[in-house]
Amino acid sequence: MTSTQQLAQSKPASLPVAGTVTKAVIPAAGMGTRFLPATKATPKEMLPVVDKPAIQYVVEEATRAGLRDVLMVTGRNKAALEDHFDRHWELEKALEAKGDELRLARVRKSSDLGNIHYVRQGEPLGLGHAVLCAADHVGNNPFAVLLGDDLIDARDHLLEAMIAVRTAKGGSVIALMEVPLESVHLYGCASVDTDSRDDGDGSVVRVTGLVEKPDPADAPSNLAVIGRYVLDPSIFETLAKTPPGRGNEIQLTDALQVHAASSAPGGGVHGVIFRGRRYDTGDRLDYLKAVVRLAVDHRELGSDFSSWLTGFVDERNSAALDSATP
Ligand code: UTP
Repeated sequence: MTSTQQLAQSKPASLPVAGTVTKAVIPAAGMGTRFLPATKATPKEMLPVVDKPAIQYVVEEATRAGLRDVLMVTGRNKAALEDHFDRHWELEKALEAKGDELRLARVRKSSDLGNIHYVRQGEPLGLGHAVLCAADHVGNNPFAVLLGDDLIDARDHLLEAMIAVRTAKGGSVIALMEVPLESVHLYGCASVDTDSRDDGDGSVVRVTGLVEKPDPADAPSNLAVIGRYVLDPSIFETLAKTPPGRGNEIQLTDALQVHAASSAPGGGVHGVIFRGRRYDTGDRLDYLKAVVRLAVDHRELGSDFSSWLTGFVDERNSAALDSATP
């Protein structure tokens, strides 16, 4: 296994401490239009993935990486998010009275994940604007941003690898994933300096440019930006000056494009190319795939669910064969 794969997939114990990155920002104020009507009254981050809302996986990832100070950027419907991470005394008392220790532990875990703070994004003016709303809380330290609908499998250690790159190289760090060129219009897309693959397996690259959701014909590469960032605090000054871009939204990608081209203190952007397991729960089809993938690996449900799934697929295949028989 090559060096960055080891970094991204080995146990956190062998990784450097988080250094000065201590805070995580989770933007969760988007409209979630791809998932309507499910997201009309519920934030998409609260959709269940097997037995936990998507956002709980994200908060658990941040705390695993040592970031126990978590700021959520919320919008309308923020109550469900706040309630989920808050204590629920009546429920706890009822479970205690029944002696249901297992469920009690599960309920308590969701309110014991770290110090969770909230800030309101008054209007959904874009991801860049959501990050800017975190400026007062974050102050003058590098910080992580984790998108609340983008899950990284708990067995992969992308965020720790990104924090290590920030510690070694400074500036900002983004997560990249190779995608089919025809899908690149769904993502921010990076051009990278191929000579900068200096970590042995080429998984850490210097980013030379970024473009939000390009047409495949104009895309500088098939490297898509996924929802993990470690940002230099100077990004706030850049975001404050960034005009609305694609979709009339203030785009984080546009601010990072400025940093990619900058040699000023705090400037410069590196990418970590992630080859692990990622689940996009903001898209209906990818959400279904995420639920199935995580369900088959689930400690309690995996075995029964896998047997059922195999039977279901066999049944569908034989029905298809029967209907195809002349
Ligand atoms: P998306 O691009 O997925 O947009 O946002 P969206 O509005 O949430 O969802 P769709 O595309 O309409 O279905 C990426 C991330 O940025 C956050 C979202 O919550 C999501 O985590 N975001 C986006 C904000 O917090 N505020 C915004 O103004 C826009």
